[in-house]
Amino acid sequence: MSSRKVFEDEMSTYPRVSGFLISAVLALLLAAPHLAECQTVVRAEQQMSRPWNSKVLTPGQRANLLIKQMSLDEKIAMVHGSVQKPAKTYVGYVPANLRLGIPAISLADGRAGVGNHAHDVTLLPAPIAVASSWDVGLINEYGKVLGQEQWAKGTNVELGPSIDVVRVPEWGRTFESYGEDPYFNGQMAIAEINGIQSQGPIADANMYLTMNQEKNRFKEDSIVDERTLREIYFPPFEASIREGHVGTVMCAYVKTNGIYSCENPFLLNDMLRKDLHFDGWIMSDWGAVHSTVASVRGGLDQEMPDDKFYGDALKTAVIGGQVSMHDLDSHVRNILVAMFRQGLFDKKQLGNWTANVRSLEHDAFSRTVAEQGTVLLKNDHSTLPLSETASIVVIGEAGGSDPKVEGAGSSAVVAPYKVSPLDGIRNRVGAKERITYADGSDLDVVAKLAHDADVAIVFVHTDDSEGGDRPDLRLPGNQDELISAVARVSKKTIVVLDTGGPVLMPWIDEVAGVIEAWYPGQEDGNAIAAVLYGDVNPSAKLPLTFARSADGIPTAQEEQWPGVNGLSTYSEKLNVGYRWYDATHTQPLFPFGFGLSYTTFKLSDLVVKPAKLESATQHMPQRVLVRLNVTNTGAREGAEVVQAYVAQPAGNGEPPYQLRGFAKVQLKAGETKSVRFLLDERSFSIYDASLHRWISPNGTYEVLVGTSSRDLPLQLPITVGNAARKASAHHR
Ligand code: BGC
Repeated sequence: MSSRKVFEDEMSTYPRVSGFLISAVLALLLAAPHLAECQTVVRAEQQMSRPWNSKVLTPGQRANLLIKQMSLDEKIAMVHGSVQKPAKTYVGYVPANLRLGIPAISLADGRAGVGNHAHDVTLLPAPIAVASSWDVGLINEYGKVLGQEQWAKGTNVELGPSIDVVRVPEWGRTFESYGEDPYFNGQMAIAEINGIQSQGPIADANMYLTMNQEKNRFKEDSIVDERTLREIYFPPFEASIREGHVGTVMCAYVKTNGIYSCENPFLLNDMLRKDLHFDGWIMSDWGAVHSTVASVRGGLDQEMPDDKFYGDALKTAVIGGQVSMHDLDSHVRNILVAMFRQGLFDKKQLGNWTANVRSLEHDAFSRTVAEQGTVLLKNDHSTLPLSETASIVVIGEAGGSDPKVEGAGSSAVVAPYKVSPLDGIRNRVGAKERITYADGSDLDVVAKLAHDADVAIVFVHTDDSEGGDRPDLRLPGNQDELISAVARVSKKTIVVLDTGGPVLMPWIDEVAGVIEAWYPGQEDGNAIAAVLYGDVNPSAKLPLTFARSADGIPTAQEEQWPGVNGLSTYSEKLNVGYRWYDATHTQPLFPFGFGLSYTTFKLSDLVVKPAKLESATQHMPQRVLVRLNVTNTGAREGAEVVQAYVAQPAGNGEPPYQLRGFAKVQLKAGETKSVRFLLDERSFSIYDASLHRWISPNGTYEVLVGTSSRDLPLQLPITVGNAARKASAHHR
């Protein structure tokens, strides 16, 4: 079809653009003797023959124009990855279409830095660490650093963030996620996606959906009811699309209720397209496609990384009529719309895979994230912060010989350097002789050094990786014995956990202090030294629950995890993470939202009242205003994370209470600040699976505010519902 025909068919706005261009070309032809101007002429001419390059048009209009020009082969080429990619580069690639000027799509992993064996990149702390900061500004910066480095490497689709709710604490990819709460994960996702997409690349919300275990992940079938799907597993994706405007979603390896994610019409067509009006593209996880026609009908736009089902097989299906051209076009369109929206046709991608994208700012940022993500879990007798004059023994491989800075799998990053905790502490103190080290392999050596030192710091770790879950929540090897052996001879034993998720702590009563440092990235040692010596006052909070015992977890039954006969039954329903501990009155070791500081805080003066209408946002009307004061009652500056939970009126099968708002507040010693949250409609809603929609049960809700899910000193009821729109809060 000629471009003239396109012009007539398609656009009411196009004639204006075209008219302008023709005049511009003519004007330039008359007046442009110089080369630069001639190039402008060439570009303008191209724009005339490629009207989809006009930025005046909407992404949808541009995509429509372009699709009209594409042959069947060109369309097929868009909907699958290609092995014809620059060697040793991106993990996924769709070559450019030179005839039509469609840029190549270059996809790279990068949950904590550019992955896929790229060199000269920054290794940030794991996502679970930055999430522990509960600081949406920090995670927005994290996204920006990732996006900037990816773009400079030539990547235009960043395969992150991973936003699945952590259901199984042993999940091998817990470190790649943000934790166990749907609302919290959604807020983190919005901030990170905005950060990534502000720097050039399209972000990718993954892995959709019920990707909650690695064991048997290519076949596992998650048996889960609709209300649980909607209330627990879907909200992070919903937030990513509605408020994060994410360009792509990756469908997962697993099945949900019998159907593979990448051909699941309920998950893709109904939940993403119909309900959320998602207009970006759905790509498969690597090798997660199992069919051609069923996947096309189910809603998958693009197969990655190759063309097993969406190459010749799809072309044959189109020619044979099993797949209509209209369906193929709509998948191509989804890809193009996201590309146009992100400006991939409008800005030159000058990056390349071999570029050195590091900077001193990014090194410093990596350290800041590690400091802000380190959670102080126990600190008896104010053993921490350490005195600079104390003699210290650093124990454990992760403390010296083999720092545990990151998890493994597709998110792995080639660290430019790793500062070991031993080096970090020695650098901080400046007196090497007072800081000794033992790797922990010889318990006699350890005991002697621990006995002689003022303080013993034991670094323990887990080796978490994509592709496998941890067998249980115990620290692997003899690390539990190592800690107990040290604690027997040193009253001042501090345990630092470099783990990807929660672990059991059978030695908890034997030690003076515990710190969760997660996988802290390249600046490991510098960050932990800053926390240990109090240069940084810890302010992070757990984004998931730590259990007291192996059977005291929400998914302790084999049917739940790892599943029986390939079925993992989500029988805990809504009671995921802290919800289960609260519902079953099980005492956690450390609750969701918990973390200590070197100072103390007090919350007071809670007000809960209906919000004014002006505060309504476009997606969710804001219903309730929560306001309170936070005071730093200690002697040093610090930050507190104030958390607001809502308890529903009883009787609808919901968990006792759920996180609906949080804010991090920085306070000088003695300072008081007022904190406000607006709780939206969703905070007071449940999903009615029989009506297939959200409803807000009338009745009295409770708003609980505090500093962890188990420390909620301020509580007020509020009546919500049609009859009570004007109701105000009653103080107890
Ligand atoms: C992982 C994805 C990753 C992809 C490409 C898959 O195994 O599940 O998270 O993006 O590989 O490396």
